[in-house]
Amino acid sequence: MTDEKMPRHVAIIMDGNGRWAKERGLERVYGHQKGVETVRRIVEAAGEIGLEYLTLYTFSIENWNRPKAEVDALMGLMVDAIIRETPDLMEKHVKVLVIGNVADLPETVRQKLGELEAKTAANDGVKLVLALSYGARWEITEAARRIAEACRSGKIGDVDEITESLFATYLTTAGIPDPDLLIRTSGECRLSNFLLWQCAYTEFYFIDKFWPDFEKDDLYLAIRNFQLRERRFGMTGEQLKAGNAGK
Ligand code: IPE
Ligand code: IPE
Ligand code: MG
Repeated sequence: MTDEKMPRHVAIIMDGNGRWAKERGLERVYGHQKGVETVRRIVEAAGEIGLEYLTLYTFSIENWNRPKAEVDALMGLMVDAIIRETPDLMEKHVKVLVIGNVADLPETVRQKLGELEAKTAANDGVKLVLALSYGARWEITEAARRIAEACRSGKIGDVDEITESLFATYLTTAGIPDPDLLIRTSGECRLSNFLLWQCAYTEFYFIDKFWPDFEKDDLYLAIRNFQLRERRFGMTGEQLKAGNAGK
C-alpha cells in the first residue's frame, strides 16, 4: 500500500456478529466468537500496512441493555481473548489502550485489561484502542463535569481557558489523534454513540458485510477509497490545490 494519504487512525464499528450467526442458525454468541478471529486478522493487517492507530468499538454503553446471558458471554469472551492473544500482540509489538467507562466492567475484565495495557505499554507497533463500555455522550458529559470541577477548584482559573483543544484533553481519547477513516460493517449507516466529538471531520465508509466476514482486503479497499477522497475541512477545492488555505 502506498504511503500517499495513508490514514493515521482508522476506527471500526465492528457490527453484525449476531446476524452472521442467526443466518447460520447459530446462537449469537458464535458470531461474537467468530468476530474475535476477525479482530486478530485486522490487527495483523494494520501492522502490515504500518497503521499508527486502530480503534475498535468493542462494547457500547448501550450494549449493557442486552440480555444478561449475552453480556456475560461477551465479557467471558473478552477475558479469554485477552489471555489467548497477549503473546501474539507482544510478538507484533501492539500497544493496547482502553477507552470508555471501564469502571462499569466486571472486576476480572478490568484486571485483565489493566495487565494487557501494562504489558504492552512499551510496544512501538500499532496502537490498538479498544472502546469498551464506551459511549460518546457519556464521555462528553464526563469531560464537562470534570472541567466544571477544575473551574471550581481553581485548576482552570478563567472560563476563557476552555478551548476546543483543552476540552479534548478531558476526553478519554486525550492524546489520540482524531480518526481519519471510520468503517462500519453490517450495512448499518449510523454512529451508535461512537466518537461523536472526534469524528467531526472523519471520512465514513460503510460496508455491507457482517464483521465475521470482514477480510484484510476489505480494509485495504476502504483505505484505497479513503485515498481517493478530497478532505476539504471547510475550504474550497481550489484552495487545497493551490496550497493556500486561509488566503
Ligand atoms: C457487534 O455485533 C458486536 C457488539 C455490538 C458487541 P452485534 O452483536 O451488534 O450483531 P448484530 O448487529 O446484532 O448482528
Ligand atoms: C454498535 O453496535 C456497538 C458496537 C459495535 C460495539 P450496535 O449493534 O450496538 O448498534 P445499534 O444498536 O445497532 O445501533
Ligand atoms: Mg449490531
